[in-house]
Amino acid sequence: MSEAIMYNTFFVFHFFGAICVFSAAAITFLNMVGMAFTTETRGMWNCSYWAMKMAQFWLFSIILILVSSIYLVFSRWGWKFPWIDVSLVMLILMMALSPIIIRRLKEVHQAIDSETENIASLKSMEKVRDRFLWNSVTIMSLEVAGIIHLMIEKMGTLGSILTFFIMLILGFLLSKVVLRWANKLNPIPVVNHIEGTMTTH
Ligand code: HEM
Repeated sequence: MSEAIMYNTFFVFHFFGAICVFSAAAITFLNMVGMAFTTETRGMWNCSYWAMKMAQFWLFSIILILVSSIYLVFSRWGWKFPWIDVSLVMLILMMALSPIIIRRLKEVHQAIDSETENIASLKSMEKVRDRFLWNSVTIMSLEVAGIIHLMIEKMGTLGSILTFFIMLILGFLLSKVVLRWANKLNPIPVVNHIEGTMTTH
């Protein structure tokens, strides 16, 4: 097969991977929003199930992108472009976070699965609103948006590094805003065992 045909084939894989990564990020995030904004066990179960499945698909699409990226870079571009180097770092960060997110979402789903009441327990609600899980998912989602921006704009060193850090900060802020909003609408009760009282976050 000629070099041009091989390149175009891998480019199609890369583009397909990009659509998968973007969809997986959006569906995982929306299901996590769904589970954070409800206290009803059935709804939480559905959202946590789909968030977990989509996070697994997310990892699969990251691997697809990585394989195709390596071919595109080695066959034509090389490593001298900052947008390529920075997006590789972003992708490796995602690969490292993905298994942790999948494990945490499995734990969330198992906790909800063992519920017997219609309204989720305090333990499940705390697991659903786990800060580390939320930060990881929102930062990863915004890094995907950042990579797409880098791929299209093909930015220089400063632009690429700024994109990385701006998306990191925006991801962190997004999780803070969503959790604050969820806690306002459905506060998690805090039981004070010493005084025997109950307040909210
Ligand atoms: C979440 C990860 C990624 C997504 C969503 C993504 C998405 C895209 C998209 C949409 C394009 C087409 C841009 C255009 O033609 O204007 C593209 C091109 C490209 N990507 Fe990625 N990409 C990702 C990761 C990477 C990584 C990590 C590398 C390299 C290490 C890479 C290397 C390339 C190269 C070299 C091209 C240019 C192909 C060409 O124009 O011939 N991508 N990517």
